[in-house]
Amino acid sequence: MKIEEVQSTTKTQRIATHSHIKGLGLAEDGTAEQVASGLVGQEKAREACGVTVDLIKSKKMAGRALLMAGAPGTGKTALALAVAQELGTKVPFCPMVGSEVYSSEVKKTEILMENCRRAIGIRIKETKEVYEGEVTELTPEERPDPTGGYGKKVTAVVIGLKTTKGTKTLKLAPQIYESLQKEKVTVGDVIYIEANSGAARRVGRSDSFATEFDLEADEYVPVPKGDVHKKKEVVQDVTLHDLDQANAKPQGGQDLQSLMGSFLKPRKTEITEKLRLEINKVVNRYIDQGIAELIPGVLFIDEVHMLDIECFTYLNRALESTLSPIIIFATNRGICTIRGTDIVAPHGIPVDLLDRLVIIRTMPYSVDEIIQVVNIRAQTEALTLEEDALVLLGEIGANTSLRYVVQLLTPASILAKTNGREAIMREDIEEIDSLFFDAKSSAKLLAEQADKYIS
Ligand SMILES: Nc1ncnc2c1ncn2[C@@H]1O[C@H](COP(=O)(O)OP(=O)(O)OP(=O)(O)O)[C@@H](O)[C@H]1O
Ligand SMILES: [Mg+2]
Repeated sequence: MKIEEVQSTTKTQRIATHSHIKGLGLAEDGTAEQVASGLVGQEKAREACGVTVDLIKSKKMAGRALLMAGAPGTGKTALALAVAQELGTKVPFCPMVGSEVYSSEVKKTEILMENCRRAIGIRIKETKEVYEGEVTELTPEERPDPTGGYGKKVTAVVIGLKTTKGTKTLKLAPQIYESLQKEKVTVGDVIYIEANSGAARRVGRSDSFATEFDLEADEYVPVPKGDVHKKKEVVQDVTLHDLDQANAKPQGGQDLQSLMGSFLKPRKTEITEKLRLEINKVVNRYIDQGIAELIPGVLFIDEVHMLDIECFTYLNRALESTLSPIIIFATNRGICTIRGTDIVAPHGIPVDLLDRLVIIRTMPYSVDEIIQVVNIRAQTEALTLEEDALVLLGEIGANTSLRYVVQLLTPASILAKTNGREAIMREDIEEIDSLFFDAKSSAKLLAEQADKYIS
């Protein structure tokens, strides 16, 4: 059987609904460019999002909330994702959909709490005593297993570390050998070992071992300067949820029980309220001492009208706690009932919560803007469109929705291919539009033929 020459048919990159969006597309002075970073129009909302990003970055917005409101397909989810892109990887962004809270296993407020904590980052800066250098030697010292059998037991590990200043040979405990193996350390790697915990970290492959070929997916780092044994500032970015989880794990020794446990399915341990309070206390202490820095991130709750009154009450409280993220809500509902009650409220959100929000509105798109979005989408999906097909899509979009026309693109391209063409022509769009219904015309049909359906 031949394997090497079979090419995988999976696409290198999956194209999702929002993959054309790369950021908010704002100029230096914060004004929105008409078309930039994959976004078209919607200037006011984009500028407002830009201000929000600045506020989040300067940490002036913790514990506040924002609502994106607008008709379906006007880009609320797209804008929230653009905000996430602008914030970068250092600020946590936790997206969720309102209906995610309805699980039969976990309480609604528990899910909200967990996601809130996923959205709060902590940057921990520690000066640690470390041994750092390029590994020149790595030899385990073994002796036959005292409990019998053919196995060998590692009793110590001898490791040589080289820096620009000199080389040092250390004899370390067997646990460190394990942690070196976990990090897959070999001779020629640059590593550091924390003196008091014994944890080993692989920084990368040493420069001097770099090959002339770039195929090796390894990061090459220079040989460390200074002494082997030194103090080093280590920065770690974690979220509160990471801390919860790390501390909820049963702390097992190396006994048989935990060995068995590692083969079995990892037991889902509960994160209790008590544990969270404990973590908060420690984190607050670290912040006071200047070891840790709080980085409030964003919790994005899409389709917020799916939440019910219990969740809203919880969020009200959560927004007031000291460790609170920035919450961005999005909804396309107008005036409707709040889930779990028969109170009618704007956007299906209780008035007292609404009162705490600033609202960003997204407006319907003009024909030109729709055409521009479709054009960008066609480029991302690598489709070619004839000029008059684009114009027709714009017209259809103005009567239906942006999302509908964006969705017509791929089927139309399939139709064009079946007819032996590369480019999508006006007639492909016409035919596809006649084959599929958009939400509005389907609803109209239902209303007209109501007597034929069961209701
Ligand atoms: N201004 C824009 N520029 C470029 N693409 C956009 C823009 N607005 C929306 N889109 C794209 O149009 C599609 C629909 O937008 P999106 O899903 O953000 O709408 P929405 O407001 O979240 O709608 P809903 O209320 O139904 O959730 C997506 O593919 C999105 O990427
Ligand atoms: Mg949406």
